[in-house]
Amino acid sequence: MNQAALHRLMASKRLKKAVDDPQYLFELRLSTNLSLISSLFFSLYPKDKNEVFFHKLLNRMEKMYANRDIALKKLDLERLRSGNWYQSNELVGMQLYVDRFNKDIKGLRQKLPYFEELGVNFLHLMPITTRPSGENDGGYAVNNYHEIDSKYGTKKDFLDFTKKARDNNMVLMLDFVVNHTSDEFEWAKKAKAGDPKFQSYYYTYPDRKIPDAFEKTMPEVFPESAPGSFTYSKEMNKWVMTCFNTYQWDLNYTNPDVFIEMLDNLVKLANMGVDVIRFDALAFLWKKIGTSSQNLPEAHQLIALFRMCLQAIAPGVILLAEAIVAPRNIIKYFGEGTLEGNECEVAYNASLMALLWNSVATKKTALLHKSLLEIPTKPIDGTWINYIRCHDDIGLGYDDDFIREIGWSPAEHRSFVLDYYARGLEWSPAKGLMFMYNPKNGDGRITGSAASLLGLEKALEEKNGHKVNQAVKKILMLHGIILSYGGIPLIYAGDELGTLNDYSFETQSDHKNDNRWVNRPMHDWDAVAKLNTTTTHSSEIFKGLKQMILARKKLTCFADTHPTIIHPSPNTHLFVFERNNGATKVWVLSNFDEQPQFLHSSWLFSIGMLPKNELVDLITGNVLVIKNNLLELNAYQHLWITGT
Ligand code: GLC
Repeated sequence: MNQAALHRLMASKRLKKAVDDPQYLFELRLSTNLSLISSLFFSLYPKDKNEVFFHKLLNRMEKMYANRDIALKKLDLERLRSGNWYQSNELVGMQLYVDRFNKDIKGLRQKLPYFEELGVNFLHLMPITTRPSGENDGGYAVNNYHEIDSKYGTKKDFLDFTKKARDNNMVLMLDFVVNHTSDEFEWAKKAKAGDPKFQSYYYTYPDRKIPDAFEKTMPEVFPESAPGSFTYSKEMNKWVMTCFNTYQWDLNYTNPDVFIEMLDNLVKLANMGVDVIRFDALAFLWKKIGTSSQNLPEAHQLIALFRMCLQAIAPGVILLAEAIVAPRNIIKYFGEGTLEGNECEVAYNASLMALLWNSVATKKTALLHKSLLEIPTKPIDGTWINYIRCHDDIGLGYDDDFIREIGWSPAEHRSFVLDYYARGLEWSPAKGLMFMYNPKNGDGRITGSAASLLGLEKALEEKNGHKVNQAVKKILMLHGIILSYGGIPLIYAGDELGTLNDYSFETQSDHKNDNRWVNRPMHDWDAVAKLNTTTTHSSEIFKGLKQMILARKKLTCFADTHPTIIHPSPNTHLFVFERNNGATKVWVLSNFDEQPQFLHSSWLFSIGMLPKNELVDLITGNVLVIKNNLLELNAYQHLWITGT
């Protein structure tokens, strides 16, 4: 039983006094979490020197709770009573940049009916707070954690929006850029002005000795545009750690004041009415010379400490781990051992995402099956964000051992995948770009919109109707997988219309050094206007997604409280998994090949699909025919089969 389960128990009707007394429940939660909070705190900040900070933390937590609106406190209790609400099959998400979607927060609000029409009820809004003018990593360089940048509107607009979203049962996710601030953040400004207190909020050094020692083992995040992990600040005459861009200063969490102030910033964000908080770049939170300074045990303790404190204050608010790291490391962000279930409730399923792109390029599913079956499973209280791409690049985060085990060479294989998506080769249907290629080791990542990576852009250029059709099928197939796999599906805004790459970043001074902007297009409202009047690739994709979303919401077997069972298929082009809640079973089948593929009825029988019964595709309602003991899947066909 994790800590959240204990809070649920206490909030249950059996504790009569608790039902109408949020303050009493807060105190209960705090005392239940206190021993964990203190052991985490003192393992990071040794007791002999830091007891005073611990008392400071507890005093501040009282205030943070007092500042939480009563409506949010009530929602917290409702959520506690409804179990793991974030595992529901009724959640379907979309990620968007507010300005690229419909100008500003008010514009976003006007488009609530659009989400409703598609069935989206969970929004990930990209950063909207103040940031430096010029380059700012799309707002991931934070000048303030709560002041809304005027280009998006006012704080009031945002608070009104969160209220409206709550009234409409729309879940809101925002980022908490927990690893770094911009170099214009209040603390950074004071550090630049020479204040030693604030210089100790960051990793600052008078010379290159310690930076050099760190850099020996720290991988570079942006080797092309921001090589190294330190930047010289002439104002301070010191080197400051900058793992990402030179203008993003890494926070020094070995300083307990930094933790307390950042917890305050986190709770303020939750108190603005945000339901899910995306812990940005959390693998980087603790640094140690001689290590990669990623995924360190102390980073996990720190995340659990944030979690345990936030949970006492706002138990309805959950954390998403943005850990785009090796498959075996991602799972650790749900918490392991004594911390199991006490770190993040949600993590990006970056492994599934990268493996799907691998299967598209190779037309084969062996690596997908192997990886999904051999990566340790997540704890039952955790869930995934399933996505086919986000605003970032697509990294080839496959496990080298698994690549070798299926008989391929990891380096050659990665080079092939980069060829397929990002080197503009004639034989490939994909049109993507290479991101941060490192000629020293051949590492590179991929950028591009889903539609362009799946062949739509090239097919339209060639005016080849057959290829357009194939691209549309691929787009629907990949989305069908994330809509049926256990977790919360997150669609990138525009992918529901098949929006292509946006090359305008090449001429914009603040974007031209970062080709991730190619996959952050403006929302295509012209295409939306035609959805119900003309048949276009956009309307086919939109309608296809809408149908699948409806089907997902109807069946609780798609909730992540029920397992996702992978069935390694004997046909190497097919991906097969089952959703099963005991009463209803659905088998999800996808053909990654451009040729028809077949499954023998004896195998279908062996995985529990009974061919003597009628098989129905839930998405279209079509009855499936088994001929000569074979079930045929067309090129890129995607089915949600249920037996009647
Ligand atoms: C995360 C964001 C990415 C950003 C980075 C630094 O990885 O997704 O867009 O560049 O953090 O904040």
